[in-house]
Amino acid sequence: MAKKKTRTPIVAGNWKMNGLMSSKSELKTLAKHLKKQSKSACDVVICPPATLLKAFQSDVKGTRIKLGAQDCHQNQSGAHTGDVSAQMLADAGAKWIIVGHSERRTDHKETDALVCAKAGAAIAAGCGVIICVGETEAQRDKKMTLRTVGRQLKNSMPETANAGDVVIAYEPVWAIGTGRTPTNEEIAEVHGFIRSKLFARFGDEGKSVRILYGGSVKPANAREILAIENVDGGLVGGASLKAKDFWGIIKAYGAK
Ligand code: 13P
Repeated sequence: MAKKKTRTPIVAGNWKMNGLMSSKSELKTLAKHLKKQSKSACDVVICPPATLLKAFQSDVKGTRIKLGAQDCHQNQSGAHTGDVSAQMLADAGAKWIIVGHSERRTDHKETDALVCAKAGAAIAAGCGVIICVGETEAQRDKKMTLRTVGRQLKNSMPETANAGDVVIAYEPVWAIGTGRTPTNEEIAEVHGFIRSKLFARFGDEGKSVRILYGGSVKPANAREILAIENVDGGLVGGASLKAKDFWGIIKAYGAK
């Protein structure tokens, strides 16, 4: 995988609404596994529920694991009962914030404009932002994949974003939690398309932005998917919950 060296890959685990204090044991096991790999192989991020961020801070100290959050409110503070701001998440130890995940776009009817505002808030709080895009199965069937992803990318990217602030995660909605994945050619096509849009947005710096693939990444398919051109890592759901499985994916980038 020497060709990947222009960008340090990221393997990020999105725990979604899973995890309790007892999950600290997974984090400790993961940290142990990571010692079997060179630090420079890839960046490793765990995005637990917001309730665990602060609790996990001491566990990731001195390891390669960085913490991330799964969403944030678009405002810094105020009368928004039950919401959590990017600044609060950063204060609790988040270095990254995921925005625009399809589950939020669907469950909470989040629009591109809202995702864009949230991404801006994450950047303003000093976090890196992982902006998720991806088509539904109906959109793919209607050959609207690139149009959909292009629209989401353009409208979810804040004016204030610099290339160094953002990571894009391509997650086809129909591949999330289903065990189904696009073909390698389909993944390469969308990632190549996203790369061209990043060049259009950021000029030459577009080449430094990492584009993650997400949707049913498992130890069994990680090596193949992560080797595809313009795939700079993975955003992993189910297989990130167990340290053994997550390490099975991370080690696609080599182990000592
Ligand atoms: P799965 O890996 O469980 O398919 O989830 C992908 C995802 O939604 C990550 O954000």
